[in-house]
Amino acid sequence: FDLCALNSFGFPSRAEYFLRVETLDQLRQAVALARKQGWPMLMLGGGSNLVLREHIPGLVIQMALKGRQVASPEAGTVLVSAAAGENWHETVVWTLQQGCYGLENLALIPGTVGAAPMQNIGAYGVELEERFDSLLALDTESGDIRRFDRDDCRFGYRDSLFKSVAPGRYIILEVTFALSQRPCPVLRYQALADALALRGLTAPDPEQVFEAICEIRRRKLPDPAVVGNAGSFFKNPLVSSAQCEALRERFPGLVAFAAGDGCKLAAGWLIDQCGWKGRRLGQVGVYHQQALVLVNEGGGTAAELLQLSDRIRGSVRERFGVELEMEPRLYPA
Ligand code: EPU
Repeated sequence: FDLCALNSFGFPSRAEYFLRVETLDQLRQAVALARKQGWPMLMLGGGSNLVLREHIPGLVIQMALKGRQVASPEAGTVLVSAAAGENWHETVVWTLQQGCYGLENLALIPGTVGAAPMQNIGAYGVELEERFDSLLALDTESGDIRRFDRDDCRFGYRDSLFKSVAPGRYIILEVTFALSQRPCPVLRYQALADALALRGLTAPDPEQVFEAICEIRRRKLPDPAVVGNAGSFFKNPLVSSAQCEALRERFPGLVAFAAGDGCKLAAGWLIDQCGWKGRRLGQVGVYHQQALVLVNEGGGTAAELLQLSDRIRGSVRERFGVELEMEPRLYPA
């Protein structure tokens, strides 16, 4: 089965077996089949945070559970649930239409609702965990459906239990968000505040925040429907405050933000400083507007992309002594 159209890099990739599931029963049957046959199993959402190699052994299951609902509000907070196969951006738009606020900073992130908690998506000052209430997941080992509250999910920066502690064990079915009936704009991300100020908006409403986010993203990030990519290709590395200060002495322009007890460095800046922005290697390259995004210029493969990624990591290591970690999932690893 050809997966080229189902991964946002648009890499050529073929799965041995493929099933699209629209109901819980179909999902259970697909999981049972894979277990019985001893096939490795890959759950596919929007395929937008994935680097697929050319041959995918076993079964690929495309998650297509649909449905959304709003619970009755309590004290201004409203629980909103969406099935894992719903498109993320459409769900954000829908919450705003329902008068439920809080997800607007996460507009236009590619992918599905079910994939969002997996890597605790975040952008422009908001991370999913801040708006998260709970989720339901199928435990592929026991066959039970389990509820996970926020603390159970072990959210971290682009990380969760589902991604790193028990990868592959749980299949997310439905996510419930805790949203607000009162507008609660989060403008702490400087580039967002600046974009709104330019429009004369110092106290914007959620729709205006939404519009500004969409505008910034369209300007800075390539549309995967046009140019294959998976958003940020590396995580912004966390370093100690001491290492950050030492780097700042040598590189006064260093872009860094306080994070926990240390600092988060802007990986895009590090890569940009190494001269990679806009460069090409074969059919893959570094996006000209944002050095953190690697792109398939057309006809590229995962193997080529990994070569480019190695070269970039080597440059950053050599120049800054900092190790970059890949953000999307490579499959098979
Ligand atoms: N920068 C450069 N050159 C570049 C790119 C960035 O100098 O080519 C510097 C700029 O100074 C800029 C700073 O790096 O101010 C940070 O860049 P930006 O605001 O674009 O954010 P980012 O660190 O590159 C992160 C997330 C994005 C998220 C944005 C906005 C990660 C790995 N990436 O990117 O998330 O949209 O912040 O919040 O944390 C994703 O995870 O796929 C993703 C797109």
